[in-house]
This record gives sequence, structure tokens and C-alpha cells, in this order.
Amino acid sequence: MEKFHIVGPNRLAGTVRASGAKNAALPALAASLLTDDPVNLSRVPAVRDIRTMVRLLEHLGVASEWREEGLRLWRGGPIRSAAEAPYELVKTMRASVLVLGPLLARFGSARVSLPGGCAIGVRPIDQHLAGLEALGAEVKLEHGYVDLSAPRLRGARFAFSTATVTGTENLLMAASLAQGTTVLENCAREPEIADLAALLVAMGAKIDGAGTPTVTIEGVAQLHGVDEHQIIADRIEGGTYLIGAAISGGDVLLVDTEPADLAPLLEKLAEIGARVEVEGRQIRVAHQGPLAPRNVITAPHPGFPTDLQAQYMALMTQAEGSATICETVFENRFQHVPELNRMGASIRVEGTFARVQGASALSGTTVMATDLRASACLVLAGLVARGETVVDRIYHLDRGYERMELKLQKLGARVRRSNAAADSNPSV
Ligand code: EPU
Repeated sequence: MEKFHIVGPNRLAGTVRASGAKNAALPALAASLLTDDPVNLSRVPAVRDIRTMVRLLEHLGVASEWREEGLRLWRGGPIRSAAEAPYELVKTMRASVLVLGPLLARFGSARVSLPGGCAIGVRPIDQHLAGLEALGAEVKLEHGYVDLSAPRLRGARFAFSTATVTGTENLLMAASLAQGTTVLENCAREPEIADLAALLVAMGAKIDGAGTPTVTIEGVAQLHGVDEHQIIADRIEGGTYLIGAAISGGDVLLVDTEPADLAPLLEKLAEIGARVEVEGRQIRVAHQGPLAPRNVITAPHPGFPTDLQAQYMALMTQAEGSATICETVFENRFQHVPELNRMGASIRVEGTFARVQGASALSGTTVMATDLRASACLVLAGLVARGETVVDRIYHLDRGYERMELKLQKLGARVRRSNAAADSNPSV
């Protein structure tokens, strides 16, 4: 199994560019099912979840090719909408459910394995299904699979009872090819949703209000391909490096990014005493001296992202005093806590709250990554810990961070990967 070896303490300094956002690229890839024409995507991150989505699309009949400028997807033959999205793929990546909306809208049926639980919580898809049902789909749940069918979807008004990112994306894709107008209420507002909408509009869809709670979609008969759609910068990856600057007493310039998407993190970094400078599409975070503790409550966008909660917790282990972190989006997203405590942190979990008492002198040891963002948290802790930190099961990290060790090395960190061959571990 691949591991990271980090010898600390390190100070991050220099310039870094985030890859394209994994969570924007995943629905963009699924959207290629909505047309027969080629869809060309640039700034697609070369991460494991994207490779899994490519495999799933290939299984359904979509051909793809990596080119210098990005990923090209096109219909490689008959689309096998009745071919199920198998459990083997869905269990490794919940985002596989993103094929439901496009398959149903375009081919009248879809069959996807139910994702079940995952490391960070139960994560049901009831809202995806209720929304598609509102558009006229018949939903059957049998033998661990969800079967959807509808000869032609019809526009409708639907209000999500929970704001869901991939649920909103599934409905945007489905409603784009439905007959008539769909009004979706209580939609998630993450920037990745607006990026998907921009791609769909470039494909000929009529969408208004994406990125706000109410989205109106006027269905069209067909969609066409796009010559180029550039995926937005990954705000979570970029945010991870900015936290890396603050935790290590460093100075990092994040370039070619959308600062507004990172506003909740930048506000916190400024509050804890880091220097934050925003200019155009660049963000510089620098820090020296003690950090002030500040509480955080995760919330859907534009709140503090759950996907940065673990990394922020690593940061709070270095703040002088006590900070409380409340996780409201997922029920089981504190699995990094025991590992941080093994490195010398002092964190107590009570239900959805984690109380971090800092500043702790962390020391290197072997720790186990349990999910994608928990892995990033342990790497950040490893940057400041004295001695060698070995982060095991780094395949979790590879799901969403493109060659993190190379980017960290460029910023001056002493980090290396052991056990080569990036794709050698099949158990994601
Ligand atoms: N929920 C329901 N019913 C549903 C859908 C969601 O109850 O039908 C609940 C979930 O259980 C959760 C909350 O609603 O408590 C929000 O979940 P959401 O559906 O928004 O999450 P998601 O779409 O499954 C995406 C990202 C996650 C990110 C969350 C929240 C993708 C592919 N994944 O997941 O990314 O944490 O939104 O922002 O876009 C990650 O990248 O590490 C990651 C986990």
C-alpha cells in the first residue's frame, strides 16, 4: 500500500496552482451522456475518482481520450442505459449516482447500484429519487439496485427537503431534456453546480438561477457537444494548500483560482491572524507567530465547507487556546481525530462537536488515512510534526488530490511517496 513519508517540521513557501475541481469534473463527465457529440473538457484533474467515472462511462458506452488539452468524451457506440452501474464501481465512488439523471432523461431508463453507507456517513439518495419521480420517473428499489424508467420526463416544480449537491446536479441534467419547464427549490448553491450549469448551457440547455436556491430549467429536445469547457479551480485543494501555509508559518501564493469560492476559509484565516491578500485570481496566505483559535461550524455553501473541516482541525491543533468545530453536514466525519491525538493533539469529540485544545507539539508517527479529506488533514499535521510522519492508505488522498507530494515538494516540503505505481491498489 502506498504511503507518504513526511519529515517535519516544514515551512511551505512558493506558488501553487490547484487542479480543476474534482466535484465539478465528475458531473461534467456524466453530462457527456446527454449528447451524441463530443464533449471536450479542460482542467480535468488526473485523480482516481475521475478515472473511476471514466471507467463507469466506458461501461455504459461512452468513449474517451486524454489529450494534452484535457479529456474528450464521445458516444463510442450504442449507449447501454440498461447496463447497470455496478456495485463494484458505485461502492468506490458515490458520485456514480450522477449518471442517473442523464441516462433517464436521454434513454428513458437507468439502473444504478444503491451506494449504501460510506466512511463519512450514511448519505442517502432519497432526494435524487424524489426529484426524478416528480419529473415522472417510476422508481423501483430491488436487490440493492435502483431502477428508473420514464418514456419522457416532464417538467415540474420540486422542492428538495435537504439541499444536496449531487442531487441538484442530477436534477439539472435530467430537467434539461424534460418536456416543459422545471422549477427546483432549495437547491444546493456550491460553485460546482454553477459550473455544471455553464457546461449544460454551452450544450444548448436553458437554465436560469444555478448557484441560487431556485433554479428554472426549460427543457429542450436535444443537446449538442462543446469544443471546450474549462472546469473551475478546485477550491478544496487550493484551500488545503492555503491552510498548509498558515499551519507551517509559511507563505503560499495560490494562482488561477476563484477567491470568492474560498471566502469562508479566507475569513477564518484572517481571524486567526494569518495575512490574507487577494488580488484578481490570486490568493496569498502568509503567517508567522502564534495563531488564534476560532470556532467553525460547517454548512452548505456559502458556509464553511465540510470538505475543509478536517484540514482546519489540523490547523487548530497549532492555535493557542481552545476551538470548537461543529460538523453539521455529515454525521461521521471526525475519523481523523484519533489519528491526530496519536500525533500529540488534544481533541475531544462530543457528538457533532470536536473540541481542540492547542497549541500541541505534534510528533511524527504512522497514521492511517480513512477518507479523502482526513488524509489531507494528516498530511498537514505531518508538515508541522517533529520527525517522520508516515501516512498510510494514501489511495484515499489520490481520489481527489492530483500528485499532492509533487506540489508540496515544490513548496519546499520534505515529503515522498513509497511503493510507487500510482494505481497499484485496487481497494479504494
Ligand atoms: N442527503 C440526504 N438525501 C439525499 C442527498 C443528501 O439526506 O438524497 C444528505 C446527506 O446525507 C448529507 C447532506 O444531505 O448529510 C448533504 O449531502 P450532499 O448530497 O450535498 O453531498 P453529495 O452530493 O453526496 C458532495 C460532494 C462531497 C461534499 C458534499 C457536501 C461530490 C461528488 N461530492 O457530496 O465531496 O462533501 O457534496 O458539500 O460533489 C469530497 O470531495 O471529499 C466529498 C465528500
